[in-house]
Amino acid sequence: MSRIFITGSTDGLGLAAARTLMKEGHDVVLHARSRERASALAEISPTALGIVIGDLASATETRSIANHVNAIGRMDAVIHNAGVYLERSRGETPEGHAKTLAVNVLAPYLLTAWIARPDRLVYLSSGMHRSGGSALDDIDWKKRPWNASQAYSESKLYIATLAAAIARHWPDVLSNAVDPGWVPTKMGGAGAPDDLEMGHLTQTWLAASDAELTKVSGQYWYHRHQREASPEVTDTGFQDELIEKLAELTGIRLFAERRQSARPG
Ligand SMILES: NC(=O)c1ccc[n+]([C@@H]2O[C@H](COP(=O)([O-])OP(=O)(O)OC[C@H]3O[C@@H](n4cnc5c(N)ncnc54)[C@H](OP(=O)(O)O)[C@@H]3O)[C@@H](O)[C@H]2O)c1
Repeated sequence: MSRIFITGSTDGLGLAAARTLMKEGHDVVLHARSRERASALAEISPTALGIVIGDLASATETRSIANHVNAIGRMDAVIHNAGVYLERSRGETPEGHAKTLAVNVLAPYLLTAWIARPDRLVYLSSGMHRSGGSALDDIDWKKRPWNASQAYSESKLYIATLAAAIARHWPDVLSNAVDPGWVPTKMGGAGAPDDLEMGHLTQTWLAASDAELTKVSGQYWYHRHQREASPEVTDTGFQDELIEKLAELTGIRLFAERRQSARPG
């Protein structure tokens, strides 16, 4: 049985994943953005290994989430599930970042850096990552007029790219990205056409299954099948550029410093 931390487990896919993994007998650490939201966990919290509280829009609270998880013990897997979709405006997090970037990308990046390294990492991306474009000069939306859908698509391109970069840098960890499909959660809306059940079973499977198929890294998944992601995701130049931007924005370096190429003379 595995010990698994799931971000954003008060609702939607995160809550469904937590229920499934707990039914399978795994030790699950739940996460809510606030004490008030933790009340949504009343039904499953008695059998959870723990509940961690903190708003992922804040780097300070994200640090405290990581500290709390580490105090519980080393996780076998972390599912980076929490996310926001169409934010009305860029917003301004306590550190001055666009909220969509902060919750969907900077927080999972920081948690990856701060939580004791697990065996498996799963990041929730989206089919919308394909509209994420490839320019990285304004990832924090400081120059462009706000476009909520574009910001979400970009964040999901970045998180899939982060998953692939981790697979490249940390060969001892299985790091994968998942597109859950367009499913009827608070985020997806009641009319979403995809299967809610299949929407969460890929991430639980990647996090905890013994199946040989799950023992791969750097892949992009949809309904337990590997799918080709946008070409940027596996482009090592794009990965390096993104990782450098995330290190600059957060002040935290996930991988060792890039080596400068030696100049003759
Ligand atoms: N639903 C879809 O069709 C779809 C499609 C593609 C990808 N995805 C991805 O799947 C993941 C889960 O989506 P979902 O549909 O389950 O969404 P959801 O129903 O809106 O649930 C999102 C979860 O993230 C939490 N969260 C959001 N902002 C947070 C913050 N600042 N701090 C802490 N927690 C925060 C929410 O907490 P509260 O309950 O307090 O709001 C909730 O637990 C997301 O990463 C999403 O981008 C979903």
